[in-house]
Amino acid sequence: MGILDKHGVLEKSPTLLLIFSFLVVTVGGIVEIAPLFYLENTIEEVEGVRPYTPLELTGRDVYIREGCYVCHSQMIRPMRDEVERYGHYSLAAESMYDHPFQWGSKRTGPDLARVGGRYSDGWHVDHLINPQSVVPESVMPKYGFLLNREIDAKYIGDRLKTDAMVGVPYTSEMIEAAQADFAAQADPESDFDGLLERYGEGVNVRNFDGQPALTEMDALVAYLQVLGTMVDFSTFEPVASR
Ligand code: HEC
Repeated sequence: MGILDKHGVLEKSPTLLLIFSFLVVTVGGIVEIAPLFYLENTIEEVEGVRPYTPLELTGRDVYIREGCYVCHSQMIRPMRDEVERYGHYSLAAESMYDHPFQWGSKRTGPDLARVGGRYSDGWHVDHLINPQSVVPESVMPKYGFLLNREIDAKYIGDRLKTDAMVGVPYTSEMIEAAQADFAAQADPESDFDGLLERYGEGVNVRNFDGQPALTEMDALVAYLQVLGTMVDFSTFEPVASR
């Protein structure tokens, strides 16, 4: 009787089969999961990826609050049709500072992982006020009320601190300057040198919604405009993992 024939014993006894299946799954699970606890970081760092600015982070919170993720994914899969439609496939590093990540699982609307820079701020504002005005067949709801919701970002320092607790590298300087940086990004007349120093020269500084008050619309558009733009894919080269 060969070793394979002995397998018949397992196949004929549900209890034994259950016990041995459990053992196999346990060993497989441990082999996959245990090494992760000994790695400092499982995400390969990529140049250009930075924590969100206070204004972008606030916009991201509006995105989550309004449930945009219910209709939009932020994860371009490495398949030809996706890459041709949306751009370079998403890298793990690009959502390493997302808590929680916004990959999503439903695409009633298009993927937004690389929507940054694709449209003007004005387009986004018009589209959010009334999606059907720019895309007549759109089923996206209207979000014009965001223009009337002013924000003073009183708690933005605490918001950054919370992300720092889960590993986003916000420095104490960034946390201290959070409220000033928040206002500076939406006001091109302001002194925004500190903001650029802390978050990089590439930060968009504009009056995003085109009206004087600093509103949730400014924050949301600032967030949309940075999506997928942090990594320069003209120079990016994927490297094999260590
Ligand atoms: C009920 C589903 C639904 C919800 C909720 C929704 N959208 Fe959309 N969205 C769509 C659809 C459908 C489109 C495609 C048609 C269009 O452009 O309006 C779209 C398009 C977009 C586009 C243009 C993307 C592109 O590449 O052309 C952006 C940006 C966008 N949505 C942002 C948002 C934001 C921000 C929110 C939350 C405040 C949101 N959407 C909520 C369905 C939705």
